[in-house]
Amino acid sequence: MDHSLMSVRGLRAGLASAVLVLGAAGAVQAQTAEQAINYRKGVMQVQAWHFGPLVQMVKNARPFDAALVARNAAVLESTGRMVVEGFTPGSDAGNTRALPAIWKDAAGFKAAADRFTGDAAKLVAVARSGDEKATRAQIAEVARHCGSCHDNFRAK
Ligand code: HEC
Repeated sequence: MDHSLMSVRGLRAGLASAVLVLGAAGAVQAQTAEQAINYRKGVMQVQAWHFGPLVQMVKNARPFDAALVARNAAVLESTGRMVVEGFTPGSDAGNTRALPAIWKDAAGFKAAADRFTGDAAKLVAVARSGDEKATRAQIAEVARHCGSCHDNFRAK
C-alpha cells in the first residue's frame, strides 16, 4: 500500500477522535466568565500546591531537597504562563477577588506575571546547579512575586 495514503488515513482518524474528545470536554461551547474564574483559581491552587513545600524548606520545616525544588519550580514556570489567560474580559464580576486594576492596567498585570514566570525559571536553573544557599534565596524571590501581585491585584 502507498505509505502517504496510509498516513493521510491515520491523520483523518486521529482528527476525528480528537474532535470527539473536544466535544465531550465542552470546548466547542463558548467559554464563560465563570469558567475563566474557575480556571484561574485552579491555576493558583496548582501554584499553591507546588510552592508550599518550597516555603516549608526555607522555613526549615522540611528537609531541603534540590530535586523537588527543580521539579516544582518547573510547574510554576508553566502555570506562570497561564495566569494572564484566566482574566478574560467580563470576568471581573462574579465569585472573584480579582481587582479592577487587572483590566485597567493589563500591561502591569502581565509584567507581574512575567516577572513571576522568569524567576520561577531561574529557580529551576539554580536548584539544578546544586547551590543550596542560592536556591533558598531564589525561593524567597519567587515568594515576593506571589505577595506583591496579590497586594496589587487581589482584594483582601
Ligand atoms: C501575576 C499575579 C499573581 C501572581 C504572580 C500570583 N498570584 Fe495568586 N492570585 C492572583 C489573583 C489576581 C488572584 C485572585 C483570583 C480570583 O479570585 O479570581 C489570586 C488568587 C490566589 C489564590 C486563591 C485561589 C482561589 O481558589 O480562590 C491562591 C491560593 C494563590 N493566588 C496563590 C498564589 C501563589 C502560591 C503564588 C506564587 C507561587 C501566586 N498566587 C502568584 C494573582 C497572582
